[in-house]
Amino acid sequence: MYDLPTLEPIRRYKSIAVLTSGGDAPGMNPAIRGVVRTALHHGIKVYGVQRGYSGLINGDIHVLSSKGVSNIVQKGGTFLKSARCSEFHQATIRANAASQLRKLGIEALIVIGGDGSLTGAHLFEEETGLPVIGIPGTIDNDIFGTDDTIGFDTAVNTALNAIDKIRDTADSHERYFLVEVMGRSSGFLAVHVGIAAGAEMIVVPEFAVDVEAISLQLATSKRKGLGSSGIIVVAEGNAPGLTNRLAEQMAHHGHTPYVSILGHIQRGGHPSGHDRVLASCLGAKAVEYLLAGYSDMMVGVNQGQVVDVPLDNLTRYRKGLDPELLKIALQLHK
Ligand code: F6P
Repeated sequence: MYDLPTLEPIRRYKSIAVLTSGGDAPGMNPAIRGVVRTALHHGIKVYGVQRGYSGLINGDIHVLSSKGVSNIVQKGGTFLKSARCSEFHQATIRANAASQLRKLGIEALIVIGGDGSLTGAHLFEEETGLPVIGIPGTIDNDIFGTDDTIGFDTAVNTALNAIDKIRDTADSHERYFLVEVMGRSSGFLAVHVGIAAGAEMIVVPEFAVDVEAISLQLATSKRKGLGSSGIIVVAEGNAPGLTNRLAEQMAHHGHTPYVSILGHIQRGGHPSGHDRVLASCLGAKAVEYLLAGYSDMMVGVNQGQVVDVPLDNLTRYRKGLDPELLKIALQLHK
């Protein structure tokens, strides 16, 4: 596991709130539990906000108890529910949301979510002065400043489970499959899944798709007797339908790959042991950072250590794929 900082409490809070926002990720429940139980341990009252920023705007906010977060550590999804809330892009709406918290005497907010949700959290603190701590929760693992995000490990394993099965039928019928994984505009999930699945090729949004090169490589493998079946992992990218279009284009080059889109199964299921421990630690440390006087930051993981990352950095920098990992992925193709 990770090295955890020792933090001394220097600030007092009576009440804080926690919410989950954006695409759900397996491990959000243990993260909420980590926040709630750590806060209660320090004598702080904790509120749960329903449906992310939508619940904040509507005042859908309720007190959470220690018992209320029992029996959730192993459950996928988020019991607080999640939502994508486009209204929160407006400063006036964010100001109204802050007044909902102030009405209840809530002095700080912990946000569990992806890049967009944490960017919203930064703006919220900057404009309203309410202290915010972010916890990275997304299967995409695309958040700047952290090597790991809650849900990524589970999603990798869920995709692998499916791909191992697809490979059985691909082998039997000597077929190629294009398997689409999630990840929107980033290829972290695809690269990790591709390496772990022993994929013949990996297509990521960070690089232009070269249909001719893919087709040529398949033909070469066949000619060299390296096999006439395999898995090509494709990251979904921003424009829906990429994998089907790729299959159509490959047909013009004499290949007829099958397409399998894994979709939202990657977002569900029991969180892995890794994600449960990561989520529990980040939930606990989020509260401890708050008590140590920090705010406008995310609890992240850097080279094996839990660290504080200014939320502002997430708005200014983009996390890039590790070139060494890409090199390994390329070297391991047959
Ligand atoms: O950000 C997580 C994620 O699962 C992406 O990988 C995917 O592109 C997106 O969410 C899908 O979001 P929604 O379920 O809202 O369509």
